[in-house]
Amino acid sequence: MRISKTFMAVALGAALATTSMFAQAVEPEYTIGFSQIGAESEWRTANTNDVKAAAVKHNIDLKFSDAQQKQENQIKAIRTFIAQKVDLIGFVPIVATGWDNILREAKRAKIPVMIMDRDLTVSDDSLYVAKIGTDSYAEGRKAFDWIDNYVTQNNLKPRNGGDKLNIVILEGTVGASAATGRSHGFDDALNESPNKGRYNILASQTGDFTRAKGQEVMESFLKSYRDDIDILFSQNDDMALGAIQAIEAAGLKPSKDIVIVGCDAVKGMFQAMIDGKANATVECNPLQGDLFFTTAKKILKGEPVEKSVYVDEGVFDTTNAKEAFATRQY
Ligand code: AHR
Repeated sequence: MRISKTFMAVALGAALATTSMFAQAVEPEYTIGFSQIGAESEWRTANTNDVKAAAVKHNIDLKFSDAQQKQENQIKAIRTFIAQKVDLIGFVPIVATGWDNILREAKRAKIPVMIMDRDLTVSDDSLYVAKIGTDSYAEGRKAFDWIDNYVTQNNLKPRNGGDKLNIVILEGTVGASAATGRSHGFDDALNESPNKGRYNILASQTGDFTRAKGQEVMESFLKSYRDDIDILFSQNDDMALGAIQAIEAAGLKPSKDIVIVGCDAVKGMFQAMIDGKANATVECNPLQGDLFFTTAKKILKGEPVEKSVYVDEGVFDTTNAKEAFATRQY
């Protein structure tokens, strides 16, 4: 079969055009270094998966680093990103303080920094350009408001026959804004409530945002106060799920003997609500990747961005858990 020269030239031209279009499509637009804190919870896994998927969608060469719950590893990772001359650095501050020096190094190298999920406290706000995250103070307030409403509607009485409902709290990682914000929000809402006198905070201790630690700390609360605890506020769902195991092991009925409210709204907690073992969860939305990379690209193109953007969050309880479960992405 003879193929004409014209046909060959057209075919070759088309092939080259396709190859160069393809090459353009796969060439990443920017290189971004991202330091994640670890994999302590179902929420964190969802957040990491979302960041990685959004990086692909936004055509970003993502240099991802897992700090294994150590601030020093995050600082090392950020220093490595600076040496690699990435276009932008993103990180989740495991704790709020201790970032000034490394962020100054990034600023000197003229690499913009973005924060995701948790807040930080720095001496100079220009050390980071923008924050995409969640409002943990509002989450704490919502948790108490849900409890107060539930207590009023159900005329809940102290199990020990006393005059106050006893609350125990499982706190998150010490120094993390997600823990301090939720604590302050919860305390403020409690102190501002006209029903303030109904409640007593019996015990409050860190469970480090993990299921195992949540279970362990709840076991120790139950050892001291088995028949006194009325309400558990757990600053994340993983700790609440661990606590449920401790409550059942102590021969009590979670959600009935002890009202259980978590934070995050992960699928595990929805299942617990559907199974009648938990009462409510305040959403902390981990799906922040798309907004993060959209904002990062604006920064890199010199466009203005908001300093702080919070993602939308709701509250779920046994009245809507089943219906909402079907559409949950995490
Ligand atoms: O910073 C967000 C918190 O961190 C989530 O509530 C928790 O599950 C996670 O580990």
